[in-house]
Amino acid sequence: MTNMEGKVAIVTGARTGIGLAAAQQFAEAGASVALVGRHEPKKEAQDLVDKGYQAISIQCDVSKEDEVSAMVEKTVEVFGRLDFAYNNAGIQSPITDTADLTEEEYDRVMDINLRGIWLSMKYELRQLRKQETEGAIVNCSSLGGIVGIAGRTAYHASKHGVLGLTKSSALEYAEKGIRINAVCPGIIETPMVGRMMDSENDAMNELMKEIPSGRLAKPEEVASVVLFLCSDAASYIIGQGIAVDGGYTVH
Ligand SMILES: NC(=O)c1ccc[n+]([C@@H]2O[C@H](COP(=O)([O-])OP(=O)(O)OC[C@H]3O[C@@H](n4cnc5c(N)ncnc54)[C@H](OP(=O)(O)O)[C@@H]3O)[C@@H](O)[C@H]2O)c1
Repeated sequence: MTNMEGKVAIVTGARTGIGLAAAQQFAEAGASVALVGRHEPKKEAQDLVDKGYQAISIQCDVSKEDEVSAMVEKTVEVFGRLDFAYNNAGIQSPITDTADLTEEEYDRVMDINLRGIWLSMKYELRQLRKQETEGAIVNCSSLGGIVGIAGRTAYHASKHGVLGLTKSSALEYAEKGIRINAVCPGIIETPMVGRMMDSENDAMNELMKEIPSGRLAKPEEVASVVLFLCSDAASYIIGQGIAVDGGYTVH
């Protein structure tokens, strides 16, 4: 396992799912971790502290600039620096014909999935720039950042946008040794997918037939790729969107 002792990581959307798995893996690798959530991940951070790891929880809605700025400030106040960030917070949107998608729903998805990633990167990069240190940021896109699915316009547009943010900012910071990449998860066993199974069972069953590996992934299988992208083993990977999807986007 990568040794991240002395390093500091922020994980947004860390109360559940892929974010929680990533926070746990950063802690196990020796990093100090700020677990960030719209609902504060107090218990999840405390669980890590109880195991002897360095962790804090921060309440932050990633779509709100003042809260995102405070998230980075608090992390640095407690741990003294920042090295890694996994910008993971995101939401799904119910299947809707594009002609029926409301302005409110479109804005809700964009505000969290796209604006939230941009705001997170904005304040993380300001801190890394101030420190004049190397670092790594991983953004959460999706198979929805690579392909389209009928009825999922807003979500897929937001996740395509995440790759645009990732690629352009990666070029700005490559020379400074700050590597920015993205993960593109397929269908992962998380509360988000649990809710989709409940409300859109037929569509989800159809989707699952298309997974070449024939199974869903565990959140840990995405988290391990996030850790790899932050590690020295990925020192020459810049601006990529790495699919972790059991082969879904290959065909
Ligand atoms: N599961 C999949 O199959 C899959 C596939 C592709 C991509 N993804 C992406 O993976 C990421 C993690 O999702 P997940 O599957 O692990 O689902 P999840 O368990 O629902 O996790 C999403 C997390 O994001 C947090 N969040 C939502 N809005 C937020 C906001 N405005 N500010 C701060 N935190 C916010 C949620 O916290 P609260 O509960 O407190 O709101 C929740 O902890 C998302 O970006 C998702 O789009 C997931």
